[in-house]
Amino acid sequence: MMTDGWSWFVIILVTLNILAMVWLLLATSKSKGADEADTTGHTWDGIKEYNNPLPRWWLWLFVITIVFSVVYLYLYPGMGSFKGSLDWTQSSQYEQEVALNRAKQDAYFAEFADLSISELAENDKAMATGRRLFLNNCATCHGSNGQGAKGFPNLRDDDWLYGDSPQTIVQTLNNGRAGLMPDLGLPNSSVAILARYVQGLAGQEVTEHVQQKGKSLFAVCTSCHGPEGKGNQALGAPNLTDNIWLYGSTAQEIEVILANGVQGNMPSFNTLLSQNEIKLLAAYVVSLGGG
Ligand code: HEC
Ligand code: HEC
Repeated sequence: MMTDGWSWFVIILVTLNILAMVWLLLATSKSKGADEADTTGHTWDGIKEYNNPLPRWWLWLFVITIVFSVVYLYLYPGMGSFKGSLDWTQSSQYEQEVALNRAKQDAYFAEFADLSISELAENDKAMATGRRLFLNNCATCHGSNGQGAKGFPNLRDDDWLYGDSPQTIVQTLNNGRAGLMPDLGLPNSSVAILARYVQGLAGQEVTEHVQQKGKSLFAVCTSCHGPEGKGNQALGAPNLTDNIWLYGSTAQEIEVILANGVQGNMPSFNTLLSQNEIKLLAAYVVSLGGG
């Protein structure tokens, strides 16, 4: 907000500027008559400069800009803290445009309102929109086809951290997810054995020693990953027996997770997207075919 002092300073400065323009215009527009001998007195290599008045049409352009500025300053903000007779503000214009867009969007989505998420997943028109929304909002992390990447779940496979029901997916999109695998402060020797034991859970061959030692060490893991390592969707703890990996299958990659812990972060979208868009995106995830 401008103080009164600054406001008057701006008003006086703007007014003086406009008056100065008017004066300049009047002072230079005086017709000097058609006297061809009237020169400015400047001469270059024998060429003289005539002192002719500005062409009329040019002069009128200046008059129009001055009139425009006065009308503009009357209608719109510009004169200090005077708001302008139209009461126009950037934020009200922005809000109007957002409201207009929402109305258009609602009209577009009305067509889908009665369809369930699984019905939407079969609807070509809805899925074309779903794909565009996915490319704009999700592809940076989950890949353009939802195939995922290290640390970002593949949405096309049958392996789900949190579950594949439409309600669960809507919840994931609305609130985000932050699966926490804590740093358990295990000694290096235990980490090495557990990493190989986890590989064994996923079907890789491991030694008898790893089997036995690992089984007892795994006791601290069961509260989240379950007694058989099959995971827990309420916590987002992955199934360790399906040979599908979020962070990699090599012993080194698993050791890094066990030694340091890890936290995947799926952002929440409920403030960025409308519920219509979230529903369509959930349908798009279902249509990718996992589960
Ligand atoms: C900033 C990166 C990022 C963006 C953007 C993102 N996600 Fe995720 N998403 C993740 C991560 C990381 C996880 C895993 C969270 C965890 O490990 O707990 C995840 C998890 C999910 C899951 C749960 C998967 C499962 O196996 O249960 C779904 C479904 C999902 N995202 C869909 C989406 C959709 C749809 C969008 C776009 C609206 C999106 N994500 C945008 C990073 C992202
Ligand atoms: C407090 C619950 C909790 C405990 C205890 C826990 N984990 Fe985890 N673990 C998780 C969660 C949640 C994730 C997924 C992290 C993410 O989404 O980013 C995870 C991820 C993993 C991964 C990565 C899986 C992949 O697909 O890449 C491995 C391996 C793992 N845990 C093994 C273990 C082992 C071994 C123990 C015991 C020493 C253990 N966890 C203890 C919750 C837990």
